[in-house]
Formats: sequence, structure tokens, C-alpha cells
Amino acid sequence: MQEVLPENAVIRKLWIGETGRYRGHLLRLDQESRRSRFGGAVSDETIAKHGHDCFGLDAIVHGCFIDGVLRAGAELRPLAVRRAQRAEAALSVERPWQGHGIGSALLQRTLLAARNRGYRLLHMACLVDNKRMQQLARKFDAELSFGFGSVVGKFSASRPTPLSLLRELLTDGHGVATAMLELQSRLLRA
Ligand SMILES: CC(C)(COP(=O)(O)OP(=O)(O)OC[C@H]1O[C@@H](n2cnc3c(N)ncnc32)[C@H](O)[C@@H]1OP(=O)(O)O)[C@@H](O)C(=O)NCCC(=O)NCCS
Repeated sequence: MQEVLPENAVIRKLWIGETGRYRGHLLRLDQESRRSRFGGAVSDETIAKHGHDCFGLDAIVHGCFIDGVLRAGAELRPLAVRRAQRAEAALSVERPWQGHGIGSALLQRTLLAARNRGYRLLHMACLVDNKRMQQLARKFDAELSFGFGSVVGKFSASRPTPLSLLRELLTDGHGVATAMLELQSRLLRA
């Protein structure tokens, strides 16, 4: 699937030292997006703690930077130790950048990362009124099951291949190169 992103948007994996940037992004989500992201009303403290804790072992967080500011994120983490082939994902895009293809691009990267780590099933939960997330899940062939107030999207992943590993490696290489250039220009501006 072709990525169509806003100008100056860069998607790459976040590093462990970037928890502050991710926390900042989550705290900038408006009330409605926060509710959609976390399945209900959550306090700044809970969000700040989540932004810090989610960089635990085995979690992969992709971020979308626009003009150097982190405006969207996608988390991927194993669901439970005993079900090692299952993972869960969650996405967030700040309101002014919603509806510009960023969620689609982040989900595509997350699905590739899940596939390459041997996860066969990826779960993604959202509220029943979150039509945009459901449309996004359908676009990637998720099977949606509707429960009381929530919907769970299940994506089945193919087995990793040398080509799928290479695709991730190449996008990671591009991400590191752009991060280096961004750092250099920030240092020059300082
Ligand atoms: C849900 C979310 C991640 C989607 O990201 P996004 O960047 O806005 O999504 P995209 O621009 O890639 O669009 C996704 C699809 O939704 C469709 N869409 C947009 N608005 C819609 C609406 N009101 N109803 C139904 N579909 C809609 C788009 O047309 C697109 O489908 P298409 O490519 O087939 O046209 C983002 O809106 C968001 O962060 N929302 C708040 C947090 C959240 O809901 N997280 C999900 C729970 S984990």
C-alpha cells in the first residue's frame, strides 16, 4: 500500500530516550482523541505514566514527526507471555493531523513489525463510536468483533520472509538517517 503523508512528515521507530517526546504527544491529544485512544476519560498523570511505561521490554513504538515534532504514535506490544504469538496495538494522531493518512501509514509499519517478530494475531481495541478506527482496521482486512461499547479488530499476520525483514530494515535505515539530519539541524539552530 502506497503511503500518502503530509509534507515534512517522517515516520520512524522511537528510541528509549524519546519517552519525553512520546509523553508530550499523548498529553497534546484533545479530550475526544484521548477518550478514543484510552477507551475512556484519563488524567494527565495516567497518560504521563503510560507514556513512560510503554517503552518496556519488547514494545515497539513508531512515531510520526511533522517539522520535527512528534504528532502521532503507534504502540505494538506482546499481549501476554503465554500467548507469545499475540500482540496488541494502539494508535494516536493529534487532532489537526487526523484524516491525512498518518494512521494508515503507522498501522502499516506496525503490521510489518508484528509480522517480522512472529506475531500471528494482532489485536486492536476501540470504542464502538470510533468509525474512523474501524474504517482503518477494515482497510487492512481486520476481522471486527463488536462487543458492549467496544470493538476489537483482529489482524492475522503472514509469516516473516527475507523480503519482509528487508523492508523493515530499509525503512529503519531511512528513519535513522532522517533522525540524524534532524538532530544536526537542531544543533546548528541552537
Ligand atoms: C483513529 C486514528 C488513529 C486514525 O488515524 P488517521 O490518521 O486519522 O487515519 P487516516 O487518515 O489514515 O484515515 C483512516 C481511514 O478512516 C476514514 N475516515 C476518516 N474519517 C472518518 C469517519 N468520520 N468515519 C469513517 N471513516 C472515516 C478515512 O477515509 C480513511 O479511510 P480510507 O483511506 O479508506 O479513505 C486517529 O484518527 C486517532 O488518533 N484518533 C484518536 C485516537 C484513536 O481513536 N485511536 C484508536 C484506538 S487505539
